[in-house]
This record gives sequence, C-alpha cells and structure tokens, in this order.
Amino acid sequence: MHKVDVLLGLQWGDEGKGKIVDVLTPDYDVIARFQGGPNAGHSLEFNQVKHVLHTIPSGIFHKEKLNLIGNGVVIDPVVFHRETKALEEMGVLPRENIVISKKAHLILPSHRILDAASETSKGETRIGSTLKGIGPTYMDKTGRNGLRVGDIIMPDFIEKYNYLKDKHREILKLYDYHDEPENYEEEWFSAIEVIRSYQMVDSEHLINRLIKEGKKVLAEGAQGTLLDIDFGSYPYVTSSNTICAGACTGLGIAPSMIGEVLGVFKAYCTRVGGGPFPTEQENETGARMRSQGNEFGSTTGRPRRCGWLDLPALKYSIMINGVTRLIITKADVLSGFDTLKICTGYKSKGEVLDSLPFDTAQLLEPIYREMKGWSDDVSKINDYTRLPGEFINYIDYIEKETGVPVTIISLGPDRTATVYPPSSR
Ligand code: GDP
Ligand code: IMO
Ligand code: MG
Repeated sequence: MHKVDVLLGLQWGDEGKGKIVDVLTPDYDVIARFQGGPNAGHSLEFNQVKHVLHTIPSGIFHKEKLNLIGNGVVIDPVVFHRETKALEEMGVLPRENIVISKKAHLILPSHRILDAASETSKGETRIGSTLKGIGPTYMDKTGRNGLRVGDIIMPDFIEKYNYLKDKHREILKLYDYHDEPENYEEEWFSAIEVIRSYQMVDSEHLINRLIKEGKKVLAEGAQGTLLDIDFGSYPYVTSSNTICAGACTGLGIAPSMIGEVLGVFKAYCTRVGGGPFPTEQENETGARMRSQGNEFGSTTGRPRRCGWLDLPALKYSIMINGVTRLIITKADVLSGFDTLKICTGYKSKGEVLDSLPFDTAQLLEPIYREMKGWSDDVSKINDYTRLPGEFINYIDYIEKETGVPVTIISLGPDRTATVYPPSSR
C-alpha cells in the first residue's frame, strides 16, 4: 500500500504546481484535486503548446491515469464544460478518465453575482477575488445551504436550485447590485447536463479502495499556503484550506495516510490580488521579474505583483504543511540579476521579527541577505552539474535555512525543462 503524496503551493499561488504535477504524473495512478475551484489556473506545456486547467486535475494529459475531482472542490459547470470541450478538441477524451465527487459543491450563477457584489461593495479594501463565485459557494457549504453535484440526479434538484437562487436574490437587494441569474441559466443548465454525463462517484470510498489496491495517488493543491482561509493573510485569502490538511478533508483520506508532502515555491514571490506582500518590488526590479517571468494571471490575465523570496514566509508554510521535499520553479527567471536578495526577517516598530505578525496590516521592512546572481541563461540546462555555482549556492542556502531538501528544479514552462539534483534520485 502506498501513502498519498500531496503537492501544494507554499506562497500566494501560481508557483507552477500544474507543470510539476504533469511532470510527476507518470509516477502515479491517480491525480486528485482536493479544494478550490475555477479560481485556480494551472498551466502546463509540452510540444510547444500551453494548456491551462481550472477544475480538472493536471494529470489529464497522461492516458490511463484517473483524474479525480474531490469533495472539497467547488465546480462551476460552465467552466468545467469549457475545459472538457477544449480537451476534446485536441483529442483528449476526458470522459474516460475523470470522476467527480457527488459531494463537491456547485457554483451557481447567483454565487458569481454575489462575489461581484461583495467585492464591489468593499471598494478600496476589496480582496481582488477572481470573481468566480468561490467565497459565496463555500459560505453556502458551511452555512449548510449548498447544492452538490449529487443533487443533480435528485428529483427535487430544480426546487432546491430555485430556493437557493431566491435566497441569493434577497441578499443581492442588500448590496443594491443589479445583475440577474437568469441571464446565465441557459448555459448553466446545459453544462449541468454535461456534468451528468460524467461519472459522479462516492469519491471517499473510491479513493480509499484504490489506495488499498496499491494504487499511487498524488493530491494536487490549488492556490497556496499564504492564501489559506485559516493561515493565510486573512482576510486577503481564498475560502478553502489550501494546506496539506485540506487534502484529508477534501478527499476523505485519513491523516495517517499522508506520505510525502511536496512543497512548490518560486525562486522569488508573486501575488495577484490585494493583501500584504512584504518583499514586493514596486519598481524596476519587480517589473523585470514580471516581464522575464511572464507574470500575468492564468485565470484573469491580471499582472502579478512581484518581489524577492521571503524565507520567514516559506518556513511558515513548510511548518504548517509538514513539507518533506521542496520543488523550486522559475529560477531561470532570475538569470541576469547581478545581485539577488532573500528576505530573512522583518523590522517593525524598532523590533526584529522572524515571522509574519498577526496584524498583517502593519508595515514590515524586510531584512535582506544579498547573494551574487548568475549571468548564464539556465533555461536550456538539463543536468544539475552544469548549473552555475551561484545558482547552486542559492539552492544550498534555501536548503540550509529550511532544513528541507530541494528535489526538483524547474527551469522553464515545458515538461522537459526540469532538473533533478543528484541527491534526489
Ligand atoms: P500554478 O497555478 O501553480 O499551476 O501556476 P500557473 O500556471 O498559474 O503559473 C505559473 C506560470 O509559470 C505558468 O505560465 C507556467 O507555464 C510557468 N512556469 C512554470 N514553471 C516554470 C519555470 O520553471 N520557469 C518559467 N520560466 N516558467 C515556468
Ligand atoms: P492557483 O491554483 C493565485 C487569489 C485571488 C485573490 C484571493 C481570493 O492558480 O495557484 P478568490 O477568487 O479565491 O475569492 O480570490 O486569492 N487567488 C489566487 N492567486 N493563484 C490562484 O490559484 C488563486 N486563486 C485565488 O487573486 O487575491
Ligand atoms: Mg495559477
């Protein structure tokens, strides 16, 4: 029997999880998403073509692998339909290897409208939500009002739908926000028929049975630890548990069944949307990272805020998740910077802090350690021993500070741009 490995983001999302899951899929039988929804945008690239997935696990491009959408995920049928259509157009047959949990919650058109109404009402303090209806859907889940995938086949589905929609309409009156769910219903209900044509399963039973049969499962996280509803920079977070524990609740697997915890982080930091970001570079350095790293949102196209690697935040994420292996991505983007900076702590009100304080609104001045950069373009390197010395120093320093080995180095968006340090083999 193999334990379930969990791959997740250690920063504010967009760490390159999709690419890494695609690279690791050949080693697994099942890839399972456990939380989040269409707010996620996971990119992967092969044969010069880039694919972006929102709801579907990133194992979908490998035949014979099962892709499971777990109970912790929230699904917008319209987005799911769009994704499956795009896959079919390129010859992938998603119906054959996707299964959906009956307990996953549905995003209704009125959830999306509520998301927009809530964000609009917040003005300057808005979260910068992707406006996919994530917050309102998870609110209905915990408020015990939600509609689940399994409800689609129940005789009172339409009744339940209308009841919830009417409730949302009352809330929308309080916001004085004008948009009608009916504008989106035709497309939504036809997408519901698409979901109905997929295998809807009791996924907690299925996954535990597969584990017992000796199958290898990789749980794929969405967003990142610093966007977690409990441990992220609240309220500038998403509405689910993005951390390792979320894999247990979002799939129905016991904590004792968790194996390796693979933490993905960028060689620098990015954040899209509002909220604190101590090492942000609102200057030429940040602009250079954005342009060299093509830092524009995979879901919304928004420019991502960019800054230096934040070690206290990374250590925090490692602690919360129990990370056993680190995976660094986008280190190629730092090529050509003469000096690299790594934040090792913060100064606030005359004090030195080694972790993010509760009051995330307080101004933090990062304390930086400077390191010499590398000038060579590393994006074509496929052997660890050919990496520049300065590059290896950067990795060694991170390993020493965190106490966790870096086992994969990603040097480009393509599947093939992946290097394994000798110790990881
Ligand atoms: P995810 O949400 O964690 O899956 O990450 P996204 O796909 O939203 O964002 C990562 C972006 O960086 C995508 O455009 C990827 O194609 C790209 N990417 C992933 N790994 C690397 C890397 O090592 N180097 C470079 N230059 N780009 C990468
Ligand atoms: P992946 O899986 C980066 C951010 C939004 C916003 C906040 C709340 O691609 O890494 P929400 O739509 O959840 O209400 O937005 O969280 N956010 C992400 N940022 N990557 C993501 O997913 C994100 N999903 C949500 O920008 O600040
Ligand atoms: Mg993304």
